Amino acid sequence: MNLSQSINLDHTKKSPRKIILFGAPGAGKGTQTKEICNALSVHAVSTGDMIRQSLKNSTPFEQKMSLYIKAGKLLPDAIIIDLIKERLLTQDCKNGFVLDGFPRTISQAKALENMDVKIDLVISLEIKDSLIIKRMSGRRVCSICGMPYHIVYNKPKVENICDVCGGRLIKRVDDGLSVIKQRLEVYHSLTEPLKDFYRKKRILVSVTAEGDVVETTSLVLKTIGID
Ligand code: AP5
Repeated sequence: MNLSQSINLDHTKKSPRKIILFGAPGAGKGTQTKEICNALSVHAVSTGDMIRQSLKNSTPFEQKMSLYIKAGKLLPDAIIIDLIKERLLTQDCKNGFVLDGFPRTISQAKALENMDVKIDLVISLEIKDSLIIKRMSGRRVCSICGMPYHIVYNKPKVENICDVCGGRLIKRVDDGLSVIKQRLEVYHSLTEPLKDFYRKKRILVSVTAEGDVVETTSLVLKTIGID
């Protein structure tokens, strides 16, 4: 399907700047978010990164939150909605952002609408579960800036060292096989129905994410009008 046609994206107009990057865990949202942000000079708003950052404080509250992550479950909507509301109100989100990992439930999507933020475009990265398992099992992330790598598909220039900030690469606590399967189950039952929510609003564009990083980036950037 020609996706630009399906939502009448007019590439002579300004590129969309308030974007949701949607997709299953491990579909490549974090990887592509960085590309879009560089291309549009907007900020990434990643709930996963924000949560992982706050878990570095080891208060009883954060310890409780880390149990959700380790079990591959979603954190309660109310906590996530408050987190996002505060972030989107900051000055650096005024002219655009890429939301990575939010919304993940219908109630989060409705809360976003109530924040009076007009989303221009939702890009859904489509990929089969078997490929996701291969990607997440080999993922390594920077312990400082969170940049994602892969031991085969997306290697850093120097083994185990982040290209961007020089941080050490680590395996995420939720990247073990049983937790990956649980996260996929949660995605299919609670998050995937959001595609219909945004399809009905005519702002959803599906992009295949099964090619390599360069191919996928090229499809994603074309979708937002950057060739
Ligand atoms: P979060 O951090 O958002 O995890 P996720 O959505 O499960 O997504 P991932 O970060 O695992 O994957 P990704 O799609 O970003 O893929 P990546 O680019 O890294 O959330 C973690 C947890 O926080 C949740 O489980 C939940 O508990 C909580 N949470 C977060 N948001 C929440 C919310 N809104 N509500 C409630 N709870 C929430 O790529 C994956 C791997 O593949 C990497 O190794 C990468 O190098 C490689 N790769 C990427 N693209 C390609 C390609 N094209 N070809 C080959 N390899 C590739």
